[in-house]
Amino acid sequence: PTIYFTGIQPTGIPHLGNFFGSIEPWIDLQNSVNPEDQMMLSVVDQHAISLGPLPADQLRRNTRQMTASVIACGVDPSRTLLFRQSDIPQIAQLSWILGSLQTTSKLARLPQYKEKQERFKKGDIPVGLLTYPLLQAADVLTFKATTVPVGEDQSQHLNLLGGLAYAFNKTYQTDIFPIPKQLTREKNARIRSLREPEKKMSKSSGGPRSRIEITDSRETIIEKCQKAQSDTAGAVTYDKKNRLAVSNLLDLYSAITKTPLSEIDYSSWSTLDLKMNLAEKIDNRLEPIREKFEELENSEEIDKILERNGDAAREIAEKNLKEIRRIVGFL
Ligand code: TYM
Repeated sequence: PTIYFTGIQPTGIPHLGNFFGSIEPWIDLQNSVNPEDQMMLSVVDQHAISLGPLPADQLRRNTRQMTASVIACGVDPSRTLLFRQSDIPQIAQLSWILGSLQTTSKLARLPQYKEKQERFKKGDIPVGLLTYPLLQAADVLTFKATTVPVGEDQSQHLNLLGGLAYAFNKTYQTDIFPIPKQLTREKNARIRSLREPEKKMSKSSGGPRSRIEITDSRETIIEKCQKAQSDTAGAVTYDKKNRLAVSNLLDLYSAITKTPLSEIDYSSWSTLDLKMNLAEKIDNRLEPIREKFEELENSEEIDKILERNGDAAREIAEKNLKEIRRIVGFL
């Protein structure tokens, strides 16, 4: 059977990049896979401290909000094993093992590392930033996952992960790890920032106006759409080369309405019309999610789900790590 695995950092409330790149495709998958396939979604709270520690209460709240958010969007905890990464200590152990198969120079060449390390003074870069991809590989391999649905920005990490699975198998003359396949839906694989459309929409860079979060109020959505970057060329046209900002808004409109661009008649719209129509559609789509989130955020149900699923995930991890520890020579 196929084992689907994905991770999402508990950055608090997910933005539309997370939503279209990861959460929505996951839900579509969840509603279409074979019943014997397994689906695992990890809220990766250990990854969340790779840039340095956070106040404990904030990390706890972020994990809770991310968990409640994905459920509010439609992740069904009876079909997706939704759990918290730090509940599974075996992942960190495997990450250490994988470190023995990886060089620092290769990790230091990864684009996400190169970009993020620039925020630190030389000599102040946290170790976790460099070893981040090992932990990500361990997430997937702990569960011997076969398929990893992610947005396009994760491709380099997925390549590295495939290499590690291969290296482990080769070194120890085993076939314990399947080489996991990346699954990226071409449509919406990369949602762009509203303020700097050359960049991806992201929690860790760009101001709050560069992204729409799934619990934003109607007023906030309207404001962010109005202030989104566009141009003064008047009527709306789709032209990625010369009008990236406007094209980005059209892509978002197409994503939120689930309508191909070719079926959207924007010929009579001004850029302001586009922004206002977009805000309206986003608000319509997010309204029920917002309500569900409010119900869930402080409910005990979240604690119960995380506890129960943590137990279930740990059971699988224990079994797999036992096998891995034997192969490596720890047992
Ligand atoms: P993270 O938390 O940054 O993002 C979660 C998911 O959302 C996708 N995504 C986007 N898709 C399209 N456009 C965007 N602007 C955009 N921003 C984010 C990401 O591709 C991702 O699918 N390293 C991972 C988390 C992780 C993981 C794993 C993923 C940890 N372990 C194991 C898969 C398997 C990350 O930081 O994603």
